[in-house]
Amino acid sequence: MGGSRVSLKLRRDHRCGQLGLDKVGQTVCLAGWVNVVRDLGGLIFVELRDSTGKVQLAADPNKNKEVHDVFVNLKNEYVIAVSGVVTARPEGTSKDGAQTGAIELYPTVCEVLNTAKPLPFQLDQGEKVDEALRLKYRYLDLRRPEMSGNLIMRHRITQAVRRYLDTEGFIEVETPILCKATPEGARDFLVPSRLNPGSWYALPQSPQLFKQTLMISGVDRYYQVARCFRDEDLRADRQPEFTQIDMEFSFVDEEEVMRVTEGVLVDSFACAGIELKPPFRRLSYADAMGLYGSDKPDLRFDLAFKEFTSVAKACSFKVFKDTAESGGQVKGIVLPGLAESVSRKMLDTWGDYVKSVGGKGLAYMCFGKDGMRSSGLDKHLSPEEIEAIKKLAGAGVGDVILIVADKPKNVANVLGRFRLKLGEELGLIDETRHELLWVVDFPLFEYDEEEGRLMAVHHPFTSPRVEDMDKLESDAENVRARAYDIVYNGCEIGGGSIRIHNQEMQSRAFSAIGLTRETAQEKFGFLLEALESGAPPHGGIALGLDRMVMLLCGCKSIRDVIAFPKTQSGACPMTSAPSAASSEQLDELKVYNKLDKAAGAKGEKVAEKIS
Ligand code: AMO
Repeated sequence: MGGSRVSLKLRRDHRCGQLGLDKVGQTVCLAGWVNVVRDLGGLIFVELRDSTGKVQLAADPNKNKEVHDVFVNLKNEYVIAVSGVVTARPEGTSKDGAQTGAIELYPTVCEVLNTAKPLPFQLDQGEKVDEALRLKYRYLDLRRPEMSGNLIMRHRITQAVRRYLDTEGFIEVETPILCKATPEGARDFLVPSRLNPGSWYALPQSPQLFKQTLMISGVDRYYQVARCFRDEDLRADRQPEFTQIDMEFSFVDEEEVMRVTEGVLVDSFACAGIELKPPFRRLSYADAMGLYGSDKPDLRFDLAFKEFTSVAKACSFKVFKDTAESGGQVKGIVLPGLAESVSRKMLDTWGDYVKSVGGKGLAYMCFGKDGMRSSGLDKHLSPEEIEAIKKLAGAGVGDVILIVADKPKNVANVLGRFRLKLGEELGLIDETRHELLWVVDFPLFEYDEEEGRLMAVHHPFTSPRVEDMDKLESDAENVRARAYDIVYNGCEIGGGSIRIHNQEMQSRAFSAIGLTRETAQEKFGFLLEALESGAPPHGGIALGLDRMVMLLCGCKSIRDVIAFPKTQSGACPMTSAPSAASSEQLDELKVYNKLDKAAGAKGEKVAEKIS
């Protein structure tokens, strides 16, 4: 790093983090923030912080009095520049850890470059401070080494991705932010067009249609560190604006997309010191749901489901029998070796949990040394039936079987959530494991109760599997998609598919989800037309950069890896966005504010103008 003048007197020539025992005896000039002042009466210590680390400065009235006079008045977060000779700390006072812990500086010059008001929160208390306050004073929050470390990790990962994709022949292309609506399934953010009153742009939910168009344009391999906007309810792993590592490939199949994505992930995880070994495991959607009740199973622990529906069908226990006979399932989880230690109270709490997430109840069998404890199952099932369940579960003396009976969808949902709870509660999650998993063979469509029609599971440009294409009209719900999701420790960090590349198939897919020819034409006419202009076979994927960085930084929220994120209610406490627009702005846009009563009359006037 080069030097630069920070005041008339001083020229910064080093960063704090560069100093160590090898610099002892050298005169250096540093600049940064006062992290802490420790006034010991005579001696004053100042911890100086910059973006690379911290260095201890000292002032002694008998040694460097001029600087001592300045230090007396320093407060936290003052901005200073100092110059002096690097010295080794006296024997026994060096701090372990950072290399700068072995040295200190008795500056001969100290200049205050700026002062700072008393802080709304102490930076070293950052973790405990209310997040709203941290977001309001984000510039202070980001001074905390944990937070700047997250930004640096994000930068390193992004750079590693760019380097890797460059070697794989990808070119980075930017696509528009002011767009026509894209169909990722969330609500769009709309932007009124001043030049076209009454018309609106949508902010892109992803660059999906542009990247497909780029393939038709002959761009062989595209990528973009792409900003995406989705107006959905926010959670710890969702933001209204977020970033994807978005890729698209021409002349490609699933294997190549997966190989390149694995390469991207290997280099990204290496930034966090994690070594991944591709190829990653694969699981079909049906198996993921059947074994773990989730399309993003956390494989850091096992607890795969066991199925007892065959025994249930033939048994005399009405709840099990009726469920099995009416197309439902009876499934369970085995807890090995816990029969003696699981208390009645725990079982009752688990039963309550199962009910709280929509289950009908939890049956259990604990095979203790002195016989079986159960939720009354011994009264309803014969010893042979109990034995058959035990056998299907692979359970023996010492084990517990927890069972639910319900419609398949409910079994997956309830048991899937219960499995995660058990994993956490029983401490089964091995935090040192890094489990990457491809989930493949998703269904192409899914029936949406609310909409009362089939909807695309991924998006409507996803290709059906060749062997299922004939079922598109006759048995659409059983058509499998050429789609894949990549899951890391139970979190979906990316997803993509091989696309439909011919117009006729695309029209069939649109019509399967109930899009009329006219609507399809109106919404995606340009794509349908482009598909008729020699579209190459193509496919791609998008990785959620924020989620990936969050997990690699060990954070619980993606807000901690985004410089200026939004709150749960979509607001930015620092800038106070979103905020009201002035009536002049609205007039210019020919938009009127229905919420603004005072502006109501004006609104009507504007509406008149439009009509
Ligand atoms: P999809 O909608 O699955 O696919 O998004 C890809 C990945 O983006 C991340 N993600 C989010 N991250 C933060 N906040 C959000 N609100 C949010 N929504 C999604 C997830 C997800 O796996 N165009 C397709 C990709 C393709 O087919 O190539 C798409 O956007 O990690």
